[in-house]
Amino acid sequence: MLQNEVNIQSIDDVFADELLDRKINNNLFPTNESNPSAAYQLVSDELILDGNSRQNLATFCQTWVDENIHKIMDECIDKNMIDKDEYPQTAEIEDRCVRMLADLWNSPDPENTMGCSTTGSSEAAMLGGMAMKWRWREKRRKEGKSTDKPNLICGPVQVCWHKFAKYWDIELREIPMEGDRLLMTPEEVLARADENTIGVVPTLGVTFTCQYEPVKAIADALDQLEAETGLDIPMHVDGASGAFIAPFVEPELEWDFRIPRVKSINASGHKYGLAPLGVGWVVFREASDLPEDLIFRVNYLGGDMPTFALNFSRPGGQIVAQYYNFLRLGKEGYKRIHEACYNSAQYLSDEVAKMGLFDIIYDGRGGIPAMSFSLKKDVEAGFNLFDLSDAIRARGWQIAAYSMPSNREDLVIMRILIRHGVSHDMVDLLVKDLKRTIEKFQNFPIVNSVDEASASTFNHG
Ligand SMILES: Cc1ncc(COP(=O)(O)O)c(C=O)c1O
Repeated sequence: MLQNEVNIQSIDDVFADELLDRKINNNLFPTNESNPSAAYQLVSDELILDGNSRQNLATFCQTWVDENIHKIMDECIDKNMIDKDEYPQTAEIEDRCVRMLADLWNSPDPENTMGCSTTGSSEAAMLGGMAMKWRWREKRRKEGKSTDKPNLICGPVQVCWHKFAKYWDIELREIPMEGDRLLMTPEEVLARADENTIGVVPTLGVTFTCQYEPVKAIADALDQLEAETGLDIPMHVDGASGAFIAPFVEPELEWDFRIPRVKSINASGHKYGLAPLGVGWVVFREASDLPEDLIFRVNYLGGDMPTFALNFSRPGGQIVAQYYNFLRLGKEGYKRIHEACYNSAQYLSDEVAKMGLFDIIYDGRGGIPAMSFSLKKDVEAGFNLFDLSDAIRARGWQIAAYSMPSNREDLVIMRILIRHGVSHDMVDLLVKDLKRTIEKFQNFPIVNSVDEASASTFNHG
């Protein structure tokens, strides 16, 4: 190598590298190798356009984790959680998490019940749903009855339940919203229940409004139905967010395995479980609530390991980080963190109410730490909520505006989630930005509003 070349390479700036100094065709598989620093710089810079995840108030998922979680994720980056033989301690940690959650959710037999980690609540919901279908089908077969028309009853659910129903060929009896009723009620459930109902799924923290559905009241109604007709319909609770909040903040609220009819629960570790993205949980009330037929047995350390999952290979770090959180925080720590979020959500709701333009749909009380609102019908605001969502992004805030599912497609709301890492000070900054943006709209009303129909697809995890 010529002396000159050495000098050029050692002083060369990464932005003068050929990967960064000219147009590249990023649709074709690259032919040549690149300088790793240049490739890293290019990728890292593209990510800037994603915006700042800490200001993403549309997501339920974690966007802040402590330094120790970064270390754990790094230590586990090479561990596949499915290799239980090779990484027996990661397998043991997953098991401990299942037992701890069974205890937290008041299983009558937390040490022996079944459950597992998943990629998130969607996979966990599928597993809970499959167990319901299998149990129902087994019972019907034993009774010599047809098994070709299973149905599932739910309120306004997250898309994972639509997928479950479609993939497993089940009729979804989703209770539509009606007027001010945005949740399921015992009456609406009973009106749809029959001998082909594999189960009822209330949500603890409905995706659209963040409110809790009345799990206990629905269980009581199903008890009554059983007493009158003999129909014994089980429940699965979608606790994607709420199952990691209610036990700490409202331990007296009965929504979990204290209710015998609740046979399984799903939750997202990566939402209010405070773990990094990529972990969910499904736990069964008792081992017998998971049909044996769904369990695969693998040889493991000379023993027999039951497994139940849709995925195979998956990273182990999220599971280990979840365990770290359980040890580090305990019930006390989770309570403190979530209560701080409730305070901020309620404060935000009060401030938005004072702005005078909005109806508060959910004020951060009786559900998860969040708030939602719609534009008052009778005001000349000069903007719609899609315009507001668009404009507030100029300050980095990502806030979802969307229309409700059936039958309230006419109701457009904005939903703001407050989670670990969204401090009271950040909320205050948001309030100031909202006020400034609204003032601007009032001085310069929007002539062509963002089209509600095209902006209304709802997809926030
Ligand atoms: C109530 C509910 N269930 C299920 C899910 C899906 O969860 P995940 O994103 O963990 O798969 C969500 C996500 O927002 C949700 O809010």
